Amino acid sequence: MAPSVSEIATTTTEEISRGVSKLQLKSETEKQTSQEVPPSYPLYYPHFDVTEKFSPTEIFEFTDPGTRADPKKPHLLTESTSLRHLSPYLGTEVTGIQISNLSSEGLDELALLAAERKVLVFPDQDFKDLAPEKQIAIARHFGPIQIHPTSGNAKGYPEFHVVYRDANNNRFEEYRGANRANRTSWHSDVSYEKQTPGTTLFWILDQPEVGGDTLFSSQVEAYNRLSPEFKKRLEGLRAVHSAVPQAEASRQRGGPVRREPVETEHPLVRVHPATGEKALYINQGFTKYIVGFKDEESEYLLKFLFDHISKGADFHVRASYHPGTVVVWDNRVTVHSATNDFDKVARRHAVRLTPQAEVPIPATA
Ligand SMILES: [Fe+2]
Repeated sequence: MAPSVSEIATTTTEEISRGVSKLQLKSETEKQTSQEVPPSYPLYYPHFDVTEKFSPTEIFEFTDPGTRADPKKPHLLTESTSLRHLSPYLGTEVTGIQISNLSSEGLDELALLAAERKVLVFPDQDFKDLAPEKQIAIARHFGPIQIHPTSGNAKGYPEFHVVYRDANNNRFEEYRGANRANRTSWHSDVSYEKQTPGTTLFWILDQPEVGGDTLFSSQVEAYNRLSPEFKKRLEGLRAVHSAVPQAEASRQRGGPVRREPVETEHPLVRVHPATGEKALYINQGFTKYIVGFKDEESEYLLKFLFDHISKGADFHVRASYHPGTVVVWDNRVTVHSATNDFDKVARRHAVRLTPQAEVPIPATA
């Protein structure tokens, strides 16, 4: 289940703005809450329409843009571009360019860099202020955009997956259970799709003063840390990823199910088409069991792998947000988790565009 769990009742932007305008603002010494300040980008206020329906996803031809890129990346890494690695195995801050100005070749090179570094952080982007059509057009360079079956979208633009939490809207406990000791929830986005997401764009619209970072773990390094014998046992295995719990949860709260939920088998170890790197492809959010194993065997192995991935702080990185930050990650080689650590009265509002990539390529021993 995706961590963007702050899904709220269908309310129009206009209703929100009207309601807010009636409120008396408190003195400057008192903390303003998200109830009192309208969202900065009301177009992306989460919209839920239970009548919105889409056909099952069809298989499509896909060529990874990163495979077309010049490995030297001359259109992306110009004289004005700077790279700063955030950790050895994943995560790089890229400054000196605007994603919105990249050529087709530059976007190919961005896909390759995202595959190599797994997570890219672009500060000070104008991306949030582009027209939604332009945002969608840029993201489509990386593949057809997944329409999320249950989450809030932008009214009229179902391609946007909206992540939203404020003082009145926090469904974390509803989804994860109020008795959880921590709020970490590792997953790879919508891994139940037959063609799982690749190069993914996520940008912040409103953020708390502190907190609300995203944690990432490298599935390539998690694989690399295993012994040769253990790797051999994993390669060739397949696991089932399910959209059913997410759809059931949405139905139970009266939310949309825009496509009937699917369950899909994927290789446990996949190969990235641009880098050739092998990566574990399982996640706590959606992976349910290993095909051909008895229940206890599957639970035992998945528990070990989930623990290995989540405890490997030496192959994790943390992306934090400032106004204008865009984070690009490759969902094929990472898992991530929101950090639900910020002030209860604060608003966190972000948007994701989630291009789908190839049917996962299995690794062979
Ligand atoms: Fe996610």
